[in-house]
Amino acid sequence: MSSDKTHTIEITKTSTSGLAEIDFNNIPLGQTFTDHMFICEYAEGKWNNPRIEPLAMIPTHPAAMALHYGQAIFEGMKATVGKNNTPLLFRPEENAKRFNFSAARLGMPAVPTDLFVEAVKQLVAVEHQWIPPQDGSALYLRPFMYADEPFIGMRAATSYKFIVICSPAGPFFTKKIRLYAETGYIRAAAGGTGEAKAAGNYAAAILPTEKAKAKGFDQVLWLDANEHKYIQEVGTMNIFFKIDGKFITPETDGSILKGITRDSVITLLRDKGFEVTERPITIDEIMLASSKGKLEEAFGTGTAVAIAMIEAIGYQEEIITLPTTNPVSIDVKSTIDAIKTQVTEDKFGWMVPVDLTVEST
Ligand SMILES: Cc1ncc(COP(=O)(O)O)c(C=O)c1O
Repeated sequence: MSSDKTHTIEITKTSTSGLAEIDFNNIPLGQTFTDHMFICEYAEGKWNNPRIEPLAMIPTHPAAMALHYGQAIFEGMKATVGKNNTPLLFRPEENAKRFNFSAARLGMPAVPTDLFVEAVKQLVAVEHQWIPPQDGSALYLRPFMYADEPFIGMRAATSYKFIVICSPAGPFFTKKIRLYAETGYIRAAAGGTGEAKAAGNYAAAILPTEKAKAKGFDQVLWLDANEHKYIQEVGTMNIFFKIDGKFITPETDGSILKGITRDSVITLLRDKGFEVTERPITIDEIMLASSKGKLEEAFGTGTAVAIAMIEAIGYQEEIITLPTTNPVSIDVKSTIDAIKTQVTEDKFGWMVPVDLTVEST
């Protein structure tokens, strides 16, 4: 058992670790899970029995409301290793805040920020040997919440589970990506759930993404719901363009996920002396800038990739190809990676160390 200032989290360790079977140089994407999970249940208005226990199946009633009405949200974050082998989290309170924004939008209860952060920290302390040390690799953390009350009827559930699982991850998207600007399907409309990390948003994106892949692209570039004209974001990333030496990114208007990497990249770019403007951006503006040779770089930002450079964008019958050199994208990516591993100074105070003594108490 382990105590901390705010929450007592019971820890039960597994007697059979899978760690020895993992080749950190060859980690299958999203299929490998660590030995333990954090779990707690919400009932009668409060979160009960927070604990870390061996990863296991969860019995689910067939009427569990998440399965029918979709009250399910999640987060994505990463643990890296810094100096002296200290595990580090990148801005975990921001994930906690966004989690609770998502929860509120879906009529779900909040998880106290300190419980969210403590759950993640203590799970990382227990699983720290699963953090791959290789460059660009990390331990991916997946906090999520769903309605498990068995009930048929449309209302907010009264019981939920909040769980955190971990999956070691090699570098994602090391190649440049090709985006397909979608003019039929939409991801989010104002007033909808686009700004929440709701499971249903991703379900609705699966078919359009498969269709984009069949056309030779990697991900969908989402356009606005009303006019199919304004750029929103990419599958699981926000997007930045460099035109005439200056950066632009779509403003968050309620239908775009407020990426934590997006916010960090805006700060880093400004710190490096670039002008960054958050504003509405039309796909036509990007196509035109490209035809005039003014579109210098474009990249997606997200926890999984940090920065994914964009090679090409398809829109209607046209495909634009971006310049092959991406000096600023490369520089920003290496700055983020260096901050995350304490190779460079964390001057914005983003990294939160994980105290390993928690594990052994
Ligand atoms: C739809 C969507 N947009 C943007 C992002 C990037 O957000 P972050 O930088 O917080 O990972 C993600 C990933 O979480 C996402 O799923």
